[in-house]
Amino acid sequence: MKQDIFYYPLMKIGIIGGGQLGKMMTQQAKKMGFYVTVLDPTPGSPAGQVADKQIVGDFYNEQKLRELVNESDVTTYDIEHINTEALKQLENEGHHILPSPRLLEIIQDKLKQKEALTKKKIPVPRYEKVETPDPAFFEKFGFPLVQKARKGGYDGRGVVVLRNKANLENAIKAESFIEEFVDFEKELAVIVARNTAGETRCYPVVEMVFDERANICDLVIAPARITKEVEEQAKEIAVNCVEILDGVGVFGVELFLTREGQVLVNEIAPRPHNSGHYTIEACVTCQFEQHIRAISGLPLGSTKLLTPAAMINLLGEGSGKPVIEKLRQILSIPGLSFHLYGKSTTKPFRKMGHVTIVDENLERAIEKAEKVKKTFKIKGMTG
Ligand SMILES: Nc1ncnc2c1ncn2[C@@H]1O[C@H](COP(=O)(O)OP(=O)(O)OP(=O)(O)O)[C@@H](O)[C@H]1O
Ligand SMILES: [Mg+2]
Repeated sequence: MKQDIFYYPLMKIGIIGGGQLGKMMTQQAKKMGFYVTVLDPTPGSPAGQVADKQIVGDFYNEQKLRELVNESDVTTYDIEHINTEALKQLENEGHHILPSPRLLEIIQDKLKQKEALTKKKIPVPRYEKVETPDPAFFEKFGFPLVQKARKGGYDGRGVVVLRNKANLENAIKAESFIEEFVDFEKELAVIVARNTAGETRCYPVVEMVFDERANICDLVIAPARITKEVEEQAKEIAVNCVEILDGVGVFGVELFLTREGQVLVNEIAPRPHNSGHYTIEACVTCQFEQHIRAISGLPLGSTKLLTPAAMINLLGEGSGKPVIEKLRQILSIPGLSFHLYGKSTTKPFRKMGHVTIVDENLERAIEKAEKVKKTFKIKGMTG
């Protein structure tokens, strides 16, 4: 048996990326007595505000990555777009980086990710690599279709829906693949945790509802309103995905539920996920604490749902210094918890914060979330 003695701080954790995910990871790590260093190009980043230390530097800067990894017992990340070549080198030198740089390299390239899943018979939408972007190729595949950049996409960027030949003028020019347009009934997500011992835990299946204007997730409903059968199927597929990739950490598995009741994998995020923010208030162990446990070789916590919940993202509606309207009004809603990430400037659709509403009645939680969406605003003040 492993020796069960720790000293304070328990361990030193490095986080590449100082956004909201890094911030919430840091808060949980600090709660448990870890030392945290964050790497982010923006001084005073959301995670940097709560960490022990921030290194200011780029995610592709080999020297800065080395500096972070050198002073950390284990290094993780809150973002996918980072220098995996440098991380592989550092791992070869004996540093602990989790999830592994090799896994990250597969996930970074959405086509490689799809191929890794299909090889293991995980159901995904029909897809094909774009070799030659001529209209005949797209036509042969069949409209409507979704074209995705292999690399660099996030929050709906790098994804276009092409409904017909005329839409081809919007086609992505970078390396890409195309995928059948899934006329889904719902988008679902499952957070899966897997630790260094290979122990896995699955959170409840949730529904993700998207803002159509920006193709960005804005409402999460926990638990999803689906049959027991679909729930079991979604959880099994999600756990399989993480096992196939030999993942260690917390993963967000995004799924489509088709109108025929089939579950397909859309994509996997190798980190805590927006669809799991509700776990902070609604589950025994939140996804951020779970991630820290998973990567530092500790036993996983319970993923039990304590109460139904609805989460909405607070998206910026202007540019400049954030101006927060109707905070008092929403804070008087029973069961509401408010998170502001601490970004010093806002932009349209930038994720500035979120609220979670817990309520023993799920429909009432959703109604309250809709009310927040209508009243609360984060606008921008320029100058
Ligand atoms: N094959 C598809 N059929 C129908 N809709 C799709 C398809 N692929 C993607 N979408 C829609 O576009 C959204 C964004 O796609 P995807 O998750 O691949 O991109 P992303 O930029 O990585 O997103 P995010 O960072 O928000 O997770 C999906 O959540 C879904 O609403
Ligand atoms: Mg996605």
